[in-house]
Amino acid sequence: MHPIELKSITKRFKATEKGGGEITILENLDLVVPQGKSVAIIGKSGSGKSTLLHIAGGLDSPSEGQVFCNGTELSKLDDKARSMLRNNHIGFIFQANLLLEDFTALENVMVPAMISGRREKECKERAVELLTKLGLADRMNHVPGKLSGGEKQRVAICRALMNSPEVILADEPTGALDEENAAEVETLLLDLVKEEGRSLLLVTHNQDFAFRCDTVYELKNRNLREEKALS
Ligand SMILES: Nc1ncnc2c1ncn2[C@@H]1O[C@H](COP(=O)(O)OP(=O)(O)OP(=O)(O)O)[C@@H](O)[C@H]1O
Ligand SMILES: [Mg+2]
Repeated sequence: MHPIELKSITKRFKATEKGGGEITILENLDLVVPQGKSVAIIGKSGSGKSTLLHIAGGLDSPSEGQVFCNGTELSKLDDKARSMLRNNHIGFIFQANLLLEDFTALENVMVPAMISGRREKECKERAVELLTKLGLADRMNHVPGKLSGGEKQRVAICRALMNSPEVILADEPTGALDEENAAEVETLLLDLVKEEGRSLLLVTHNQDFAFRCDTVYELKNRNLREEKALS
């Protein structure tokens, strides 16, 4: 049983809502994200990386094939059960950090835990611990508009880790940052994932970042090719 396992995934998109022919983006693709390991996916723009990540996290469904999260097949769950599983087992980090603008950094990080019904005091302690680890102890009461890009992305990492999910799905988490900030956020993310024993599925354009993960695949011609194997 793995935190995430994709079996024979095919994804087709219609060119327009009215039809206009279908394009196959992923075809017969298998992927395992093992417990406690980091997996990176690289590939050209438009190769289907985000599509793959959305399918792995149950945000989109495959045209064919199965997605398992800890042995549970996502398509067998109703919307409510799938949302709950996502909230408790999967942390998402997107390129655009999607923080709530009217909430402080601390409140943004607490949101996933409040949704899952944990006590406020406990949520706050965990959020403060994470923000402090990521060097934001003196930025907790800032709203996102008062934070730099790198700081916002660090808040988004804290939020993704808030419920101690088994797996983090990250779509170009450092894509919008300058080189120095990107390197810092990369290191913080990889260290935190390792320290907390989480699994990571990372999409990135950055080869150096990718090759710091345990396994690297290139998404090309609708399927994955292993570039670096788990040693
Ligand atoms: N909802 C959709 N309907 C139709 N086509 C789509 C849809 N979503 C994505 N596509 C197509 O699927 C292909 C893969 O898109 P995707 O966003 O997964 O690429 P990507 O590898 O993440 O690219 P980038 O590196 O630019 O983010 C693209 O050619 C895109 O046009
Ligand atoms: Mg993308």
